[in-house]
Amino acid sequence: MTTTQTASRATVSDPLDAARVRADFPILQQEDGQGRRLAFLDSAASSQKPAVVIDALAAYYRETNANIHRGVYELSEKATARYEEARHLVAHFVNAASARECVFVRNTTEAINLVAHTWGRRNVRPSDLIVSTVMDHHSNLVPWQMLAEETGAELAHVRVTADGRLDLDHLDELLAREPKLVAFPHVSNSLGTINPAAEIVRRAKAVGAVTLIDGAQSVPHLPTDVQALGCDFLAFSGHKMLGPMGSGVLFGRLELLQAMPPFMGGGGMIRKVELGRSTYADVPARFEAGTPAVADAIGLGAAVEYLQGLGMNAVREHEKVATAYALDRLGEVAGLRLFGPADAGSRAGVISFELDGIHPHDVAAILDGEGVAVRAGHHCCQPLMRELGVVATTRASFYVYNTGEDVDRLVDGLAKAQRIFAV
Ligand code: ALA
Repeated sequence: MTTTQTASRATVSDPLDAARVRADFPILQQEDGQGRRLAFLDSAASSQKPAVVIDALAAYYRETNANIHRGVYELSEKATARYEEARHLVAHFVNAASARECVFVRNTTEAINLVAHTWGRRNVRPSDLIVSTVMDHHSNLVPWQMLAEETGAELAHVRVTADGRLDLDHLDELLAREPKLVAFPHVSNSLGTINPAAEIVRRAKAVGAVTLIDGAQSVPHLPTDVQALGCDFLAFSGHKMLGPMGSGVLFGRLELLQAMPPFMGGGGMIRKVELGRSTYADVPARFEAGTPAVADAIGLGAAVEYLQGLGMNAVREHEKVATAYALDRLGEVAGLRLFGPADAGSRAGVISFELDGIHPHDVAAILDGEGVAVRAGHHCCQPLMRELGVVATTRASFYVYNTGEDVDRLVDGLAKAQRIFAV
């Protein structure tokens, strides 16, 4: 992390000056009653927002607020232009061939449900196979369960190896059964594992499967190129990538989106409405029924510009340094069991662990008392927790504003938990 942090023992050079980046985040400037600033280690749940994003939201409401794609007056046209500009920014960020391939939704969950309800209902038949993985978040499991229940399709899940990677031999076994869909996370939200997404897509496409990547934990942290990945769908959340809550994106290959029926019916998604029937708008409007979250989409555009300003390669390198340092320091803690790959190169900035004899919720509560925010629980991954033989873990996750000092405070907090519980 940065060499300027004297409190930290970390010495490796960092392509991001995280202490300087941190200054862009108003919430991280606050101090608690004891004059401590927050060590925020829960960005995998939701990131904090830089001032430029907060300002973009405020500016929209102060200067541009109007409904879009409806008014002929100047303000509405301005709002529409800003909204569509945000779509272009997002499309460019993931290297989509066209901005029409990016549908604004509320979050990754909604993006995946959109695919399950539209592509799924149109294409999945009884006894078709849908493959996802044991390490998936509930949002990439439950929509497929609901679809299978409705269509009579079968579900299968790629197993996870002892070191927290996808078992690619098992994937190949399942692919031999020619699944209709292969859905998987690019990065595990619990283990931090970076899955070989392009390779999985390549193998899945070779047997004719449609592919969906849950990019909730990858798009904010790794350079993303949907054309290089070759995927059909990529779902991601704005709120995990410095953008507003309630902003998210479904990328879908144009040809697939164009062949899909609408998701929700209502205003904005139609071409012509009669009392008994309607025809539908072209994509992406077909999937954006009702008044959209205009300010939030614009805020997401501002977040994308901010991340591009930092450079996604630098973001990734910073997190590698942070993760390596954290793995190193956590390795010194007696009685700490780490989950997921041991090497920082195979991980995004997510580290799950358990402390011998102390419940993760107690660990998180003690850390909270020390001004360190982590997540404890099953992380919306109950099947994975069962596989790991635990009910919950403590999870620390890093982003652009975390410094070596945050890691040191995490480790100090764990020592305190061990003293309190006298283990
Ligand atoms: N999916 C989010 C997480 O992993 C909420 O914490």
